[in-house]
Amino acid sequence: MLAFMKLSGLLAVGASLASALKVNVPTNPTSGATTQIDWTSTASDPSTFSLFLANITDAFDLKAIIGEFIDTSLGEITVTLPTLVAEGGYVLNAVNAT
Ligand SMILES: *[C@@H]1O[C@H](CO)[C@@H](O)[C@H](O)[C@H]1NC(C)=O
Repeated sequence: MLAFMKLSGLLAVGASLASALKVNVPTNPTSGATTQIDWTSTASDPSTFSLFLANITDAFDLKAIIGEFIDTSLGEITVTLPTLVAEGGYVLNAVNAT
């Protein structure tokens, strides 16, 4: 059986590279499990963006592509997080995809 590790406290949200888009830290993110990610945006934000999960201490250590060309107007998505070890820290980065 898969061990679902709690990642609370290990997951942060990075500076958004997509204008005023503000991604909220997911509540109770769990490795390998379904997690809801929500964000707030303004009219000046791009219509689509991508979400990447990286190592918080090494931005080039990409752990997962959470989503690409996400419709900004949705406000939230439900994704299945990849299996991650519960150590160090992770950061969610929103990147302009338009
Ligand atoms: C993140 O990067 C650091 C430094 O390269 C490394 O020591 C650590 O193991 C990495 N964390 C994960 C979860 O891969």
